[in-house]
Amino acid sequence: MSNRKSAKGQPAKKKEANALWGGRFTTGPAALMEKVNASIGFDKALAPQDLRASRAHCTMLVEAGILSRKDGHAILKGLDQVEREIAAGTFTYTPALEDIHMHVESRLAELIGDAAGRLHTARSRNDQVATDFRLWVRDAIDRLDADLRALQAALVARAEEHAETILPGYTHLQAAQPVTFGHHLLAYFEMFDRDRGRLRDCRARLNESPLGAAALAGTSYPIDRKATAKSLGFDAPMANSMDAVSSRDFALEFMSAASIAGVHLSRLAEEMVLWASQRFRFIGLSDAFSTGSSIMPQKRNPDAAELVRAKAGRIIGCLTSLLITMKGLPLTYSKDMQEDKEPTFAAADQLELCVQVMAGMVADMKVNKEAMLAATRQGYLTATDLADWLVQELGMPFREAHHVAGRTVRIAEQRGVGLEDLALADLQAIEPRITAKAQRVLRVEASVARRTSLGGTAPSRVKAAVKQARRRLGQA
Ligand code: ARG
Repeated sequence: MSNRKSAKGQPAKKKEANALWGGRFTTGPAALMEKVNASIGFDKALAPQDLRASRAHCTMLVEAGILSRKDGHAILKGLDQVEREIAAGTFTYTPALEDIHMHVESRLAELIGDAAGRLHTARSRNDQVATDFRLWVRDAIDRLDADLRALQAALVARAEEHAETILPGYTHLQAAQPVTFGHHLLAYFEMFDRDRGRLRDCRARLNESPLGAAALAGTSYPIDRKATAKSLGFDAPMANSMDAVSSRDFALEFMSAASIAGVHLSRLAEEMVLWASQRFRFIGLSDAFSTGSSIMPQKRNPDAAELVRAKAGRIIGCLTSLLITMKGLPLTYSKDMQEDKEPTFAAADQLELCVQVMAGMVADMKVNKEAMLAATRQGYLTATDLADWLVQELGMPFREAHHVAGRTVRIAEQRGVGLEDLALADLQAIEPRITAKAQRVLRVEASVARRTSLGGTAPSRVKAAVKQARRRLGQA
């Protein structure tokens, strides 16, 4: 016991104080302190953004006359070398150097000597990490936008193919009215379009530069925040230095949008799981996106769809975790905020994976039109059409028409047949004014063809919606 304590709980006496900030320290941290404190294990993902922001900062320092051209040049060359080492996998990471910012600076010092120490002039890790992280989230949003667009394109292609394919539409998962499969798929096109819109909104709001806020109060150096903002592609510098280093609402907003997109994906995934089951047999998932069972040779399991369905939970968990971390934190930076990255990275990575997998499944799924049509023969899907005919042709009040149509359903149920199979005499026994024309509206093809209202399921509408969707994707 006592051995273990001296090994882990006590300061490591031999260890020297941190080279970058250890001025007032006489010894290094306990091994456990190093372990809890280090973020390098995950924030090395920020390396490209950190290098980019450091270059912008360095260039600005030179232009503002804060740093000599010679030192500036040495720093930029050194940063290029660091970038090459990271790309080549020869860069060494150690928990002792805490985070990516200190790793880059410390390697820079090895490479170029004293000039490296001047890069951190008029900057703090607080504005540095806020800048890097915003750039990272912005990059993730741009990748996700392209992925979501590809998923939308897959949906549109399948919708066009199935503008006339009829299947039951459900409410309460009870067969409700016939719809076209293209229409059903385009519902998701719209959801993913709004998801892209939410990410765009988030991007527009996050696109301001924290760089130059320094630790929290700004700086006494004559820096040019507008120049660094511009060179990093930000619209402007953030207005308040304390807000700049304290705020993570951009990550929360990103994960909120990601959570909603994850929920949309999970609903489509769940429908695919249902559709691929033996009870439905509406679709077949390709070998590429299903797995077999180690014991039941006949099985083809929709694992990819199930995982997409599940991962929404993880993404929501990521959002919740950062919301709780941020709640109640005083201004400005607290180390709690180092916990912002893992959930944000995970939410982005998982969502990106799910969107790509879903696009693959949509493109690959085999659509079983016959099974879809056969399913419309059950559940009296055209009962509403009969009620509508009674209203439109006989001027019957809808409530009464609903009652009459309900009685035909009861008769069909007693005989074990579909509404369209009832003889005209059976229908006339319920309502004598019913004619053979009414029988024709009981066919599912007629039912969908008549639903031509704006946004409706009629094949003519779906074909027009496909064209419009292609225009929105910039495909036509
Ligand atoms: N690794 C830190 C983080 O991710 C960087 C900022 C550290 N700032 C500080 N004052 N300790 O939040």
